[in-house]
Amino acid sequence: MRGFKNSRFCVLVIIFLLHFGVWCNGDTENMGAPMEQNEINALYSTIQGFVGKSWNGSDLYPDPCGWTPIQGVSCDLFDGFWYVTDINIGPIHDNSLSCTPNAEFNLNLFTLKHLKSLLFFNCFVSPRHHPTSIPSEGWELLASTLESLEFRSNPGLIGQIPSTFGRLRKLQSLVLIENGLSGEMPPNLGSLVNLRRLVLAGNKLNGEIPETFGGFTQLLICDLSRNSLSGVLPKALFGGLVSLLKLDLSSNNLQGKIPQEISKLKNLTLLDLSNNKLSNGLTKSLQEMTCLEELVLSKNPMGGFLEILDWHNMRKLTTLDLSNMNLTGGIPKSIADLKKLRFLGLNDNKLMGDIPKNLENLPYASAIYLYGNNLTGELQFSEWFYSKMGRRFGAWGNENLCYPIGLVSTSNVPYGVKQCQQELNIVMDLDTKSKLVNGSLLNSQSSMGYLNDYGIWRSYVVELFMVILLLLN
Ligand SMILES: *[C@@H]1O[C@H](CO)[C@@H](O)[C@H](O)[C@H]1NC(C)=O
Ligand SMILES: *[C@@H]1O[C@H](CO)[C@@H](O)[C@H](O)[C@H]1NC(C)=O
Ligand SMILES: *[C@@H]1O[C@H](CO)[C@@H](O)[C@H](O)[C@H]1NC(C)=O
Ligand SMILES: *[C@@H]1O[C@H](CO)[C@@H](O)[C@H](O)[C@H]1NC(C)=O
Ligand SMILES: *[C@@H]1O[C@H](CO)[C@@H](O)[C@H](O)[C@H]1NC(C)=O
Repeated sequence: MRGFKNSRFCVLVIIFLLHFGVWCNGDTENMGAPMEQNEINALYSTIQGFVGKSWNGSDLYPDPCGWTPIQGVSCDLFDGFWYVTDINIGPIHDNSLSCTPNAEFNLNLFTLKHLKSLLFFNCFVSPRHHPTSIPSEGWELLASTLESLEFRSNPGLIGQIPSTFGRLRKLQSLVLIENGLSGEMPPNLGSLVNLRRLVLAGNKLNGEIPETFGGFTQLLICDLSRNSLSGVLPKALFGGLVSLLKLDLSSNNLQGKIPQEISKLKNLTLLDLSNNKLSNGLTKSLQEMTCLEELVLSKNPMGGFLEILDWHNMRKLTTLDLSNMNLTGGIPKSIADLKKLRFLGLNDNKLMGDIPKNLENLPYASAIYLYGNNLTGELQFSEWFYSKMGRRFGAWGNENLCYPIGLVSTSNVPYGVKQCQQELNIVMDLDTKSKLVNGSLLNSQSSMGYLNDYGIWRSYVVELFMVILLLLN
């Protein structure tokens, strides 16, 4: 840190001396670092477009790449002249430039010869009062320089993503998140072969995912979530995205079966396809995705069986959310082999059968949700498990599930699950019946020391009923 500060200080001193030297020569016209007037004017008018006419760059920042730097603007030297490389507008830092309600794209933007990165945040805020669309022409002028384009949180930025973005062949990061963009994603974006990050989440994009997107062989992050994309997942996508680490297509209208080819995304660590219309059961090849840490497929009418996958292969999973998927069948024991699991969501399905006791042995589990199924039998977990998990063990809403009497003290009972003893009372074993015959109602109660008030009341009613039955006999 200290070294960094010192070197910065040296640079400042050198810059100061340079300027001082120029000033001493009395050459006040060239007081700033060498920068073409065109470049300076283009910078001023670009920023003025975003922040408003009252912003007077030449007044406030006569030497924008030198001794009067503009917050959010970076420069670099090319052939002995200063050029603007980065422009960041919006409330990113305390003293950042903020946009005016009437912000607009000034086309002089495209004459900045070495612009590498353009970001604006919270700039076009009102789709009602000042809807603005992205200029469709001009971007090709930035084709040989622009590496990063980010428009964040601009609900007033409407219309389509211009297909001319497909000409920005150096682009590594295209982030258009939480804007008001609509229409289809232009297929020719697929020619951005250097893209590492594609984030178009939180817009109103519709149509299908273009097959050309399979051409992003360098892509690491793909987030198209929270749009209105439809159609099936194109197989071509999975053959091409060989480097992908994160794929988030959640909250769209995608349908059909997850293609087998998905397992070609060998390095994927996050797959989120939740809240779509995917169906036809889980795809078996998912089990080959051994790098997955987060698998979220919840809220799809998927159907089919949880058991068709060999879960124990996916040992890196920390999050497994398969809730609300219309899954049926049992809970496979192999889920408990996922030792890194922190979150397990299997709630709101139609799962049946027993809950595997070995789920208790998941060392890092902080939430296990099994509620809203048709699970049956006696819960086999220890009291320690219930007290550790509290309500983050959710098994309520399973009609025929119970926890055994005697195992659990009333403070640590699984929430919303009934006690097995009540069922036994209804079945009424011979032993209890004979006690009743002998009129020892009180004795049979005190033997159920752990019953809560409701349980005692229930057993009273049941036993009285049995007495009446026996008397009638
Ligand atoms: C900025 O200020 C200068 C000098 O004060 C003035 O000449 C110029 O017209 C102003 N420019 C704008 C765009 O207001
Ligand atoms: C996948 O990850 C491994 C290890 O991190 C790496 O060596 C390999 O190049 C990656 N594969 C691709 C296609 O990026
Ligand atoms: C759930 O699956 C069953 C078949 O198991 C099917 O009949 C039903 O339509 C599915 N429900 C939904 C909401 O998809
Ligand atoms: C629950 O499972 C039982 C069989 O164990 C079955 O008879 C019943 O129909 C299921 N209930 C629901 C709501 O699926
Ligand atoms: C019921 O009481 C009779 C006599 O009081 C006794 O012989 C019998 O063993 C009792 N039955 C049971 C099951 O305790």
